[in-house]
Amino acid sequence: MRAATEMIHRAEGANPDADPLTLPIYETTTFVFENAEQVKAYNEGRSQRFLYSRYSNPTIVAVEQTIAGLERAESAMLLSSGMAATATALLALLKSGDEVICSSAIYGGTLHLLADLFPHYGIKTRFASLDELAAPASLITPSTRVLWFESPINPTLRCVDVAAIAAACRAREIISIIDNTFASPVNQQPIGLGVDVVMHSVTKYLNGHSDVTAGALAGPRTLIQQIDKTRKMLGTVIDPQAAYAIGRGVKTLAVRMERHNSNGLAIARWLERDSRVTKVYYPGLESHPDHALAARQMRGFGGMVCVDLGGGQERAERFFDRLKVFKRAASLGGVESLCSLPVLTSQLGHTDAQLAEAGVARSMARLSVGLEDAEDLIEDLDQALGNR
Ligand SMILES: Cc1ncc(COP(=O)(O)O)c(C=O)c1O
Repeated sequence: MRAATEMIHRAEGANPDADPLTLPIYETTTFVFENAEQVKAYNEGRSQRFLYSRYSNPTIVAVEQTIAGLERAESAMLLSSGMAATATALLALLKSGDEVICSSAIYGGTLHLLADLFPHYGIKTRFASLDELAAPASLITPSTRVLWFESPINPTLRCVDVAAIAAACRAREIISIIDNTFASPVNQQPIGLGVDVVMHSVTKYLNGHSDVTAGALAGPRTLIQQIDKTRKMLGTVIDPQAAYAIGRGVKTLAVRMERHNSNGLAIARWLERDSRVTKVYYPGLESHPDHALAARQMRGFGGMVCVDLGGGQERAERFFDRLKVFKRAASLGGVESLCSLPVLTSQLGHTDAQLAEAGVARSMARLSVGLEDAEDLIEDLDQALGNR
């Protein structure tokens, strides 16, 4: 080979004698075939080979299998963001004239997708209050195809009866999909409660290090295969580097969640005892309206704590500005503690009526409690609360 050819071809491919302990990153867009017969075998589903990374890639598949295992699902898929997972799943399962039932207290991005974009394609959404979701069977009409919900719900940590919703959907052959981002598969496994498909913003607890944007869907093989066809068409795939980082993050998910759970509970209890605070929302507190339900369907209550400081948005902003250990940032589920003000992020631009519907007050601050020493976090909250 001449230099120009050798530069390109000398080091290509993997070393078949190497057996790495950790997951190799197959940073390639395409895969090589030895002959036409191998391509035909792939096309006819007779081989396990890979063709093109937008379709599938060994690094991504390895992490998808881990996520399927975590959710006790037959199959799972990774996508380029939580919103990519939501949009790809719904576009795969719905057509013009179909109806979605969705909790009106739901992540803002999901709300906008269903309320603002999907009507352009003839897909209608019936938004249901928490009271209505308590009697899910009465919401289902002949055109309902999917019921989309979240538990615990952002930012009030309200919970809905996952098993009851799943059972109502099963009885009417409606596909139930839960956004399990806030709980993580360590604290809540909806498939065991009868839900069809679980969605995650992997950006949050699953990756856990605030450095990857990704989404996941887990469920029965037939449904995941159906959604996979849409993922291929939309190209909502993830890069192998990002999949690798998620695979590494997921290895510590169980120990991270233990600490999120204990820090979250310690902080919620401390805040609840403090007279400078009006109300604390944490499903692990006996005072939470859904505590009994959460205790039944969750194994731990996570690191998300919402606090109503009273005194309007001004007081919440003063508290927010004074924080030192908690960083002022919008995301959640990472090792570092974060604080956001729902009216400036997830509920930005909501009218008073919409805020009331979501149970959100202007004086609320949402804490994503990380893995730091709980005493340092409590000292930070103490100084940020200041004098009333
Ligand atoms: C509960 C929940 N679901 C979905 C999403 C969307 O995920 P992503 O930002 O990864 O697209 C978020 C993001 O904040 C979220 O909090």
